[in-house]
Amino acid sequence: PPSIESLQEQLSSLGVSDSLPVFPYSNPTTNPVDIFRCYISETLAGISGVDSKLIYDALEWTQSFEKGDLILAIPRLRLKGQKPDVIAKEWAEKFPENPYTEPIKAAGTFLQFFFKTEILKQLVIPTILKRKSAYGPVNTGKGKRVIVEFSSPNIAKPFHAGHLRSTIIGGFLSNLHESCGWDVVRMNYLGDWGKQFGILGVGFKRFGSEEKLLADPIHHLFEVYVQINRIIEEEKEVEKKAAEAAGVKQTHNGPTDEEAKNFFVRMENGDEEAVALWKRFRELSIEKYIATYARLNIQYDVYSGESQVSKETMQKVSQMLKEKNISEESEGAVIVDLTKHSKKLGKAIVQKKDGTTLYLTRDIGAAMERYEQYKFDKMIYVVASQQDLHLQQLFKILSLLEFDWADRVQHINFGMVLGMSTRKGTVVFLDDILAEAKDRMHEVMKKNEEKYKQVENPDAIADTVGRTGVMIQDMSGKRINNYNFDLDRMTSFEGDTGPYLQYAHSRLCSISRKAAIPEEDILNADLSLLTETHATNLLRCLAQYPDVLQNTLRTLEPTTVVTWLFKMTHLLSSSYDVLRVIGEDPKKAAARLALYESARQVLNNGMKLLGLSPVERM
Ligand code: ARG
Repeated sequence: PPSIESLQEQLSSLGVSDSLPVFPYSNPTTNPVDIFRCYISETLAGISGVDSKLIYDALEWTQSFEKGDLILAIPRLRLKGQKPDVIAKEWAEKFPENPYTEPIKAAGTFLQFFFKTEILKQLVIPTILKRKSAYGPVNTGKGKRVIVEFSSPNIAKPFHAGHLRSTIIGGFLSNLHESCGWDVVRMNYLGDWGKQFGILGVGFKRFGSEEKLLADPIHHLFEVYVQINRIIEEEKEVEKKAAEAAGVKQTHNGPTDEEAKNFFVRMENGDEEAVALWKRFRELSIEKYIATYARLNIQYDVYSGESQVSKETMQKVSQMLKEKNISEESEGAVIVDLTKHSKKLGKAIVQKKDGTTLYLTRDIGAAMERYEQYKFDKMIYVVASQQDLHLQQLFKILSLLEFDWADRVQHINFGMVLGMSTRKGTVVFLDDILAEAKDRMHEVMKKNEEKYKQVENPDAIADTVGRTGVMIQDMSGKRINNYNFDLDRMTSFEGDTGPYLQYAHSRLCSISRKAAIPEEDILNADLSLLTETHATNLLRCLAQYPDVLQNTLRTLEPTTVVTWLFKMTHLLSSSYDVLRVIGEDPKKAAARLALYESARQVLNNGMKLLGLSPVERM
């Protein structure tokens, strides 16, 4: 980022003579709105005697431009004595005329600040055009490390909607932190251990095909898993009937189930043959995952998984739980009774009768190993809200174990996707979802014959835009809400959809191409020619982007960014007719293009942050 000195220089060249008070908690060189914040809070502090930091923190952005660019709710300052509306009036009157803000408005107990658009455009547009992809994020995470654990599918089982959402949200949260200076470890914690791998091992020996395994490991393993499970179910039924007929309690589930149990015991004991087979399943699946995630612009730093937690760590877990009196024996198993702390946490089993460990226990060990290795400042688990209880139990146990990092873990949960099925059926794999979204998108594009003919690589565009549709639909609402998987809606150009965003981006690219104004001229454009309300509102909106990202770091909601992007692109759509570039006087055209180019840059930045690939033509 540029230095404060160069900012002061820039300000004085704009005729803003007072030197700007710069507060340590503000970032005026990367976020132009902070310049206004600094000025306003310093000035109000002078008028009122209230601490400037208090005012600074209380300045909020507005929901609509009629209410100003920033707003101050006087009651937030918790002043004693005078009534807030009286204070508002008094301060507004005393606020001096200045180069940054229009006369202050008192509206009830609020003060409304409208930025002078003349200075706003001189600060915002050059900042965007010069900082380009760096415009938006503020380096607040420098020196800090975060692990984002996301996606985490189970090998040999379908990649379901929960995994899809985790992938999309986790990818976004990783990008967000990275852009703000965090050292991000992207981690995929695979479900790659447990009795189901005993089942799979036995199944593969009976029905597996080397050829199919190599060609398509994910589908083939699932196929085998389903096939062997059917047999286990059938045998279980036979055993049940036999037990009923004999009038005794059913004690086992049949020979195949026994075989599977034994296979897993062999795995746990490190039997070479069993482990080697499992290892191939794992490696071939990961190879496939890597390719699929790449389509979503996601690359993992680590493919960890339940299998990767070491025996020693697991022993340490059970020993610590015992020593700290957290666990107790119960009918041969080891449990942790969390009801002592909170009824809803229930009792959790940490070790089965046969000595094998469980999902929860492995999570405790995994967290310990991760801290050992990464010394994270924060760790985020992006997991469906169906597992709320599991993560609450995990977090409670970590805190009972008195790890000093126990308060650095966070569960980012989300609701369900309803009605997710493709033409192939209701069992869904990520690849199939993407393929279907692409096909649908392609059909939608073909409907506009004229345009379709001009698209150079319709197949690739359909793929990218279809994927955008899937992802935008997922990130449009609050995470916790369920939503309907609606392929028709997500591939439509109407409404707040992925294709709409892509269209907005490609249209801006097309304006730039057609105008063909050299970059030099755009950078030196006379911005005072941007006088129309459409232009200034778009500008005011673009100025908010760094604040939107800061706010998103608090909400950790993709929708915070998505909603803003739609607000901005709506302003754009209504501007094209008013703010023409082609055929305009060259000076005006250059100024307008500077504004459009700023909008394109910010849209591009926002889309990439969401994990999308903005297209230039469609
Ligand atoms: N593999 C699990 C599942 O599909 C999700 C893992 C979530 N992460 C964790 N650390 N437990 O249900």
